[in-house]
Amino acid sequence: MLKIPNFNSVIVKDRKGEEILIRKYDHLRDRDKLIEMYVNYDPQFRCLGLPPINLEAIKGWIDYLGENGFAIIAEKDGKFVGHLVIVPTEKNEVDLTIFVHQYYQNRGLGQEMMKLIIEFCKKAGFDAITLVTERTNARAIHVYKKLGFEIVAPYYEYDMRLPLR
Ligand SMILES: CC(C)(COP(=O)(O)OP(=O)(O)OC[C@H]1O[C@@H](n2cnc3c(N)ncnc32)[C@H](O)[C@@H]1OP(=O)(O)O)[C@@H](O)C(=O)NCCC(=O)NCCS
Repeated sequence: MLKIPNFNSVIVKDRKGEEILIRKYDHLRDRDKLIEMYVNYDPQFRCLGLPPINLEAIKGWIDYLGENGFAIIAEKDGKFVGHLVIVPTEKNEVDLTIFVHQYYQNRGLGQEMMKLIIEFCKKAGFDAITLVTERTNARAIHVYKKLGFEIVAPYYEYDMRLPLR
């Protein structure tokens, strides 16, 4: 398990002017709400086969991430509308995964969550953030590049990396 600096909750305004809470995810307390978010997630917006579709697979995936990673969630009126998780690798880096619920995409939320986790990872002393996306996922690639990520392996999938030092 990684050494965890404080993650201070923040309220951000999305591009529609709605206030959204971004806070640390607590696996024991928040698991059911996260499952609910993914049960209601539109499969059209999956990336690289994630999130899983059937309930048992969603639970297994969420439990794996809950036990091995650190996550933040975006919450509106008690419902989860965004989930970003980092899982440390052996190289003092983290692998990042992010999903924003379809009703809340394109409202600036993904970028807000990414910026917060980049600062968090710097504080935690990680050397880099890595992620994998599909080369056709133009929106995600746009967001990652805007935040400084570079494509390090341009194959069928794109491996992207943001050095933190
Ligand atoms: C990718 C994702 C996390 C981004 O979060 P988001 O909250 O929707 O993104 P934001 O609103 O912060 O930013 C979207 C940006 O992409 C741009 N954009 C939207 N559609 C685009 C497209 N088809 N091509 C290029 N850029 C696009 C927007 O203009 C905006 O850029 P700007 O800030 O320069 O104007 C979110 O859309 C999502 O969960 N998508 C489905 C799952 C996914 O792909 N996850 C990533 C797995 S690797």
